[in-house]
Amino acid sequence: MTPGRRIAVVSDIHYASPGETARAGFEQRVITSPLLRWLARQYRHHLWMRDPLVHNHLIDQFLAHAADADAVVANGDYSCDSAFVGVSDPAACESARICLERLRTAFPDRTRSVLGDHELGKMSLFGGQGGPRLASWRVAVDTLRLEPFWRWEWDRFVLFGVTSTLLALPVFEPEILPEERAEWRALREQHLDDIRANLRALATDQRIVLFCHDPTALPFLWREGVVRACIDRIALTIIGHLHTPLVFRLSRILAGMPRVRFLGNTARRLSEALHQARLWRPFRVRLCPSLAGCELLKDGGFGWLELDPASAGTARLKTTSIPATPVSSL
Ligand SMILES: [Fe+2]
Ligand SMILES: [Fe+2]
Repeated sequence: MTPGRRIAVVSDIHYASPGETARAGFEQRVITSPLLRWLARQYRHHLWMRDPLVHNHLIDQFLAHAADADAVVANGDYSCDSAFVGVSDPAACESARICLERLRTAFPDRTRSVLGDHELGKMSLFGGQGGPRLASWRVAVDTLRLEPFWRWEWDRFVLFGVTSTLLALPVFEPEILPEERAEWRALREQHLDDIRANLRALATDQRIVLFCHDPTALPFLWREGVVRACIDRIALTIIGHLHTPLVFRLSRILAGMPRVRFLGNTARRLSEALHQARLWRPFRVRLCPSLAGCELLKDGGFGWLELDPASAGTARLKTTSIPATPVSSL
């Protein structure tokens, strides 16, 4: 009998290289309105994350806790993206490089890594700076060796890693440089072709575990007939990006809300994601929290994906917390 497998899943590590650590206050600096700056500071201080640059120790704690895992999957967002343009920024690239190297060294040939939105660049939450850049795509794929699409077989389970920013490109288009739009669309088509071909090639008894950083991508996958045809074979879809179960629960409550187009780009993007969030349900979504969690609840941790190939082929994600360690700003 084939034994069960335990795969450690880690997401949103947001490592900070020395170059990023030196940019304390990077989010505040790009906000020109004093009122908005004050609101952003309150939100960061009390709810989301007081200082995004001081969590490097968490990767050590994760590696210690996950040492006996059969393998590791990292579900995106390796740097702090403090220039908002992804890993084409040398400091962000260095963060991601250190982070990925730590994982790959600890689990040689047993690590797979998903591309997150911050690898490619993401417009700042309140400041409207930055966005996805093709230069970051090239660095992510060529230098950091992040595969936009991957497939990994474990007994009767097939793990797939997809790139959410490509799949949800229509939502990100306003943040993309006009001269880069055609190439981004071509990359998206290629990505969809890879997904379609791999799903069609599955054997009838194979079960799928999908890794997708940002759930905004899932309604776009649902539009694909080949995805709908095998939706019952998706045992789990593991997302990251939301960082805390609190936001995941709120997303499900707000699923179906109207699109908001008059409060700026971030409100537009978030409301578009929530408008279609009912379509997350068929994918059997589970959240892998960020290592740090949110400031309000200190609910960070990581996940254990347990694969039992016996009988119906059960897959479960169990999340576990990492004990909080007091840190001070570097
Ligand atoms: Fe993140
Ligand atoms: Fe993210």
